[in-house]
Amino acid sequence: MNYEQIMQLALERGFYFPSCEIYADAQAGFWEYGPSGVSFKNKFIELWRREFVRRDRMMEIDGSQIMSQSVFIASGHLASFADPIVVCEKCRSIFRADKLIIEITSIAVPESADLSEFDKLITEKNLVCPKCKGKFNKANKFNMMFKVGIGPESESAYLRPETCQSIFVDFPRLFKTMRGKLPVGIAQIGKSFRNEISPRQSLLRLREFYQAEIEVFCNPNRLNDSEKFSEVENTEIRIMVGDTIKSITCKEALDSGILPNKLVAYYIGLLIEFYQKTGIDTKRSRFRKLGDKEKAFYASVAFDFEVETTTGWLELVACNYRSDYDLKNHANTSKEKFEVFDGDVKILPHVFELSMGIDRSLYTILEHSLREDKENDRVVLSLKPYLAPVHVGVLSLVKKDGLAEKTEEIFSKIKRAYDAFLDHSGAIGRRYRRLDEVGAPFAITVDHQTLQDDTVTVRARDSMNQERIKVSELHSYLARNVAYP
Ligand code: GLY
Repeated sequence: MNYEQIMQLALERGFYFPSCEIYADAQAGFWEYGPSGVSFKNKFIELWRREFVRRDRMMEIDGSQIMSQSVFIASGHLASFADPIVVCEKCRSIFRADKLIIEITSIAVPESADLSEFDKLITEKNLVCPKCKGKFNKANKFNMMFKVGIGPESESAYLRPETCQSIFVDFPRLFKTMRGKLPVGIAQIGKSFRNEISPRQSLLRLREFYQAEIEVFCNPNRLNDSEKFSEVENTEIRIMVGDTIKSITCKEALDSGILPNKLVAYYIGLLIEFYQKTGIDTKRSRFRKLGDKEKAFYASVAFDFEVETTTGWLELVACNYRSDYDLKNHANTSKEKFEVFDGDVKILPHVFELSMGIDRSLYTILEHSLREDKENDRVVLSLKPYLAPVHVGVLSLVKKDGLAEKTEEIFSKIKRAYDAFLDHSGAIGRRYRRLDEVGAPFAITVDHQTLQDDTVTVRARDSMNQERIKVSELHSYLARNVAYP
């Protein structure tokens, strides 16, 4: 299914919709999750916790969204977190220079290229404002952080543009109080904020968005010591080698030098195993090593994890080897000590990060899971049962003859343990269709037989098979069938 079909589903079934939509001054790039979206997102986050935080025994924190100016002086974001822009001299419209150039000429210029490269191409190709045909000013840099003023004196602070800065700033305290031992992952889920010039396509480029970030602190002299690597050595990944995508195991990628060390290969393995469990079709994924001009300013080596969608290849995770860039800069700026002991050796740890975009991941799962079942005249969101916003619909065949009361009694028995949706009204077929569209893997129907033998029908979303189950067995049936893997 394509972007427009997902958008329609999102709007009609309570997944997501534009923020402040009743007002004319609503700003682009801000979206709200509705009830189905929140339930789906929470389950995705729970899967992430299971597959990274618990599996790898990481620490998880929850830091502030507004951080002081010093943080971003040290991190380099005040100086370097900027997009190239051009402004039309006539109508003052603003465009991202790299996006404008690629859209009109198909020439890709990395966003971190010298400003003169944008000016040169704009002149050479005679590019003018798409809105009014005016000429452009010289390209400029636009810092993408949102500035906020704290207190009556309006002291400068910023909404964080990446969640991980609190992980770096908090590292000395966390390592000491939680008795850290290298290598150690520190994880965080939360919102980040970027003043994008051209937010677009709902969840795909937002100004306020969710990240799930993991920063792995490690000894740079022991990157090949990982014992845990054996857990993923036979896990297959797809990775760009030259212009082609190769399907190889993590071990083959490591042995052939495509991945630089065991530590990186281990976390890349965890990442792909996680995405396999989300229902994303990982045969349509690839890791891609970024060139020097594509990498973020803090990364020394970077791989993007990308997935093919109807909007093109979408970056879901940035896997950045940040070296000691962040800890060194925070140590210098704050004068705090960031070195720690690894055995008897005192070192400044290096950092490898997995920076996941949650919103984009959710979009991709929806796109890879929504299908049209023409034979049965329905649209089905075949989500993994453990990620479904509604685990089970609870329906009365008809309202009369005491069936509504019996349905509510059954609903009450399961509603705390599962996301159950009670529905009495409308034709049963239409109620099933609505549940199919929201991805509910099961529907329980209470009928006249229920009153006689305390059994219900349970309909499975994907096969549409129905079986009769005793009410007393519903809990264990659901527990078995919606459990995380
Ligand atoms: N922390 C990396 C990123 O936000 O892309």
